[in-house]
Amino acid sequence: MTNFPFEAQRALFPILQKKAQLSSCSQSALSTPVTEALARYMTSWSEQGMDWGGWGVVLDQAKAEFARLIHADAADIAVMSCVSDFASSIGNCLSFDAQRDGIVLGEIDFPSVGHVWLAQQARGAVVQFAQPDAGGEIALEGYARLINDRTRLVSVSQVSYSNGFKQDIGAIVKLARAQGALLFVDAYQSAGVMQIDVQRDDIDMLVCGAQKYLLGCPGIAFMYVRPSVAEQLKPSNTGWFGRINPFAFDIRTLDYAQGARRFDTGTPPYINGAAACAGMALLNTLDMAQVEAYIEQLSAVALREAKRHNLPIASPLDPSRKGSNTAIRVKDSAAIERHMASAGFIVSARGPLIRVAPHFYNTEQDVAGAMAALARLV
Ligand SMILES: Cc1ncc(COP(=O)(O)O)c(C=O)c1O
Repeated sequence: MTNFPFEAQRALFPILQKKAQLSSCSQSALSTPVTEALARYMTSWSEQGMDWGGWGVVLDQAKAEFARLIHADAADIAVMSCVSDFASSIGNCLSFDAQRDGIVLGEIDFPSVGHVWLAQQARGAVVQFAQPDAGGEIALEGYARLINDRTRLVSVSQVSYSNGFKQDIGAIVKLARAQGALLFVDAYQSAGVMQIDVQRDDIDMLVCGAQKYLLGCPGIAFMYVRPSVAEQLKPSNTGWFGRINPFAFDIRTLDYAQGARRFDTGTPPYINGAAACAGMALLNTLDMAQVEAYIEQLSAVALREAKRHNLPIASPLDPSRKGSNTAIRVKDSAAIERHMASAGFIVSARGPLIRVAPHFYNTEQDVAGAMAALARLV
């Protein structure tokens, strides 16, 4: 195989012996460490009856693995079951008044996050969308035009779920900071395949769920909150795990734990935490700079092959301007997804698009094969 740096790790994903799984923008492949972590959970449940202590330790390890991936401290990470819940939790903490009522987000961000911000209109928020250009990219000026001294929150998807466009987060932070707005980064399509450093980039909040590039399963998500920001926020969406001492069992006292833990709510999704922990631990054995460079190499192959087969590309045409996902416009994406699966290529349909989204374990041959199969089907 040409230029394939992850031969040894590829062997940890049994499905790849039979199929080309290229659906990491939706669900990544199952690895043996994740299978083993889930089996350990089931064994402890089956043989010990319950192990809240042990399951809690694994969940804390999952927080620590996520923190390591994004260069944060484990104490700055909260856990919930999905990214939308985190967005709601943050939205409900903010006040929207005549001085500060603006929320700015990208038109190609994930709709669910947009819905959460739109729901804040009932609390006085004014929501504005930065528009992509004809090439599917949102220029910084698109945000700059909308961010002003009334903006409370800027919400940005680091990589678009739809066309894979990659935004310059460091530059957006500067725009938000200059106007005194908070920055909420949705890293669901970037964490696990891109270097992320929340401290270097001075990010306020960053969210990501487990089942895409983090190699876990659905039902768990993580949020980084900058400590100085967390201290100012009092989530109304709360529960006993957000208390200073969850085991105080004092029904009359609503105290908020220090830092990000105040965003924890009720009993966490421990089993999903076990899977997420193992997936991220595997990622943390890799050199993320090498993964990022390799994903860009696969993007170049995807774009080259799509062009060669005259497939209509919806993604940015410069591999350095996109994440893993290369989106192709098709007529019936659900049917194409099914036909591709029958041909051994697991890709992901979204609206009018088929998304080919490799992870580090995919080869150039996987990507080129998928584009050739797509060309035969469309
Ligand atoms: C970028 C992005 N954000 C958010 C979501 C949805 O997150 P959740 O279902 O965890 O709320 C998705 C799901 O595809 C996504 O791709």
